[in-house]
Amino acid sequence: MNIHSTDFGEEFVWGVASSAYQTEGAYLEDGKGMSIWDVFTAMPGKESGHTACSFYHRYIQDIILMQYLNIKNFRFSISWSRIFPEGYGKLNEKGVEFYDQLIDFCLEQDITPWATLYHWDLPFALELKGGWTNRDIVNWFSDYVEICVRKFGDRVKHWMVLNEPLVFTGAGYFLGLHAPGRKGLLNFLPSVHHAALCQGIGARLIKSHKSSLQVGTTFSCSSIDPVDSSKPAREAAIRTNALTNRLFIEPLLGMGYPWNELKVLLQMQSFMEPGDEKLMQFDMDFIGIQNYTREIVKHSSLVPYLNARTVKASKRGVYHTSMDWEIYPEGLYRMIMQFDAYKKIKKIIITENGAAFTDTVINGHVHDFQRINFYKNYLKQLLRAKKEGANVDGFFAWSFTDNFEWAEGFQKRFGLVYVDYGTQRRIVKDSGFWYKEFLERQSFVHAKAV
Ligand code: GCO
Repeated sequence: MNIHSTDFGEEFVWGVASSAYQTEGAYLEDGKGMSIWDVFTAMPGKESGHTACSFYHRYIQDIILMQYLNIKNFRFSISWSRIFPEGYGKLNEKGVEFYDQLIDFCLEQDITPWATLYHWDLPFALELKGGWTNRDIVNWFSDYVEICVRKFGDRVKHWMVLNEPLVFTGAGYFLGLHAPGRKGLLNFLPSVHHAALCQGIGARLIKSHKSSLQVGTTFSCSSIDPVDSSKPAREAAIRTNALTNRLFIEPLLGMGYPWNELKVLLQMQSFMEPGDEKLMQFDMDFIGIQNYTREIVKHSSLVPYLNARTVKASKRGVYHTSMDWEIYPEGLYRMIMQFDAYKKIKKIIITENGAAFTDTVINGHVHDFQRINFYKNYLKQLLRAKKEGANVDGFFAWSFTDNFEWAEGFQKRFGLVYVDYGTQRRIVKDSGFWYKEFLERQSFVHAKAV
């Protein structure tokens, strides 16, 4: 059966998501400072977001294209090093001006801006002082949050504090696969704890600035299944779920770190100070969950601390995206129900969901039927959760345009809109036209209501 946006109710929020480093480019223009990603990718032959989709110079065309596609909500992130080139202290007025203009133009086009404060692009000047491993980041981040909400909080009513803290701490400070390329537990544990502190403190600062602002934060999440019913595999799944899906939401809800299931987290205590549990806790207006796939795990004594490893989708012979992520729509339903079970969570928004496929341009078109089917099937599972009473009230497709996919570069295309990086030409993919039609009914309903 076909579903339509109206099946989700008139109040349901539909949008698209992006992030500064992955789209803006202009990496050293108008006073912007270097971020850790600018430095991490500044290797010969390595792809970088130095130009990306040139959104900094093309935001007007892209917002007009959003409006044409009936998109009413746009989730973007603010580049910290465009606001404070050195991380704190001297404000870059041109950076403030860019976001002022972006926000004003969104509002002119009847598009509601949703701002993420931190989407991984830490000012490099702060990394030189230890970055997320240095507890001083709480003060640096607080100054940054305060200036953003002071400058933009009169027009931006929806804020997200962090984007996927597990990914930027895990990949950036433990595995070394993402910027800043640090490795090991002594980088990972403090960065996790300081991110958890900033999550709560940042939200508190926004809310204290103006209580009517809607504040949330976002989490990556995947349903975790054991490779078989053996005890080692089941226990590996429990440890992986604690790391993947509980590590940041539970301190935020006042439940502390899930160290009963993942013993290595007990070492977090050496980075904690009296009163931190309270500082990490905050009653968010919404929680953004970002689900793409599920993981199948097995016990592995070769993997330190976690003693578990995933079995790749391509090795399991299941339908998967070009990221080698299993296409598993039920995973979205399961993640919504798992987070909805935390009764303290007021509202869930799917702040990211989408898929990368090998998109090719044929006679000026991109016939990405796989992406259309992906969205239809995942949205059916979202509707299933909603009908079962889950408090899920929004969906942001990742992503509006193709963009810089971190360690995977530009080859992995998630967009509803194709980008020819040689010319910066945009081509609306078939999925982009599908989303327009899917949303049209909602805007039609809105028009009727008015
Ligand atoms: C993430 C980030 C996005 C990614 C997207 C596809 O969830 O990892 O928020 O920046 O590009 O999820 O991996």
